[in-house]
Amino acid sequence: MFTNAIVRIPCENIINGLTTSSLGIPNYEKALLQHQDYINALKKCGLEVIILPADNNFPDSTFVEDTALLTKHCAIISNPGAYSRKGEVKEVKNVLKEFFEIVEEINDPGTVEPGDIMAVGSHYYIGLSKRTNESGAAQIISILRKYGMTGSTIKLKEMLHLKTGVAYLENNNLVACGEFINKPEFQKFNIIEIDDDESYAANCIWVNGTVIIPKGYPKSKASIQDAGYGIREVDTSEFKKIDGGLSCLSLRF
Ligand code: GLY
Repeated sequence: MFTNAIVRIPCENIINGLTTSSLGIPNYEKALLQHQDYINALKKCGLEVIILPADNNFPDSTFVEDTALLTKHCAIISNPGAYSRKGEVKEVKNVLKEFFEIVEEINDPGTVEPGDIMAVGSHYYIGLSKRTNESGAAQIISILRKYGMTGSTIKLKEMLHLKTGVAYLENNNLVACGEFINKPEFQKFNIIEIDDDESYAANCIWVNGTVIIPKGYPKSKASIQDAGYGIREVDTSEFKKIDGGLSCLSLRF
């Protein structure tokens, strides 16, 4: 169960966020409203939400998940692979020191963006992507081991981050799309398949028994409901324009 979440208000410079999509430029005012809806959804799921102010120096800084991996035993400050995102970790580190006795760090040449890390109990699947490299993953696994946890790597072919296409919903249930559906590592889970035309919905989050999903993906919503979950929908259209999803928008612990 989670008790807290950290989020960061989108900045005006979000219009310059990194993207591979051709969906257009985010509307800043709309992004602010959608972000507020997201905060409300987290609160409805019982979380205390710590809201960090916007930082216009970092267009992608609302995607706070990529700044740290939070575990029961320690926080691990990341080292984003995207050069324009590296400075995002500084302020988050100071905030996390208030909540975690142990704060570890990933260092060069290792790069890690925790959008590439999915927790299943005390095991962490780490995607090797354009943003997270072998050295970064090795550092994460070494830190996890120090505190009695484990990690393993999964090579990505197409997706930006591991959690772009996969989400663990507890109770052995895994939402997956595209390249992840047939991954041997995931066959031990009950896989809830997401169709290619709704692949964005694979980035959903389990929060204390409820699954928060992006608005507008009816087939995915029905599949997750059929698996027995209560659903909350949040419109994230403006974040989708810069390759961001629901998980990216918070650190949950
Ligand atoms: N725009 C989110 C990212 O590329 O990291």
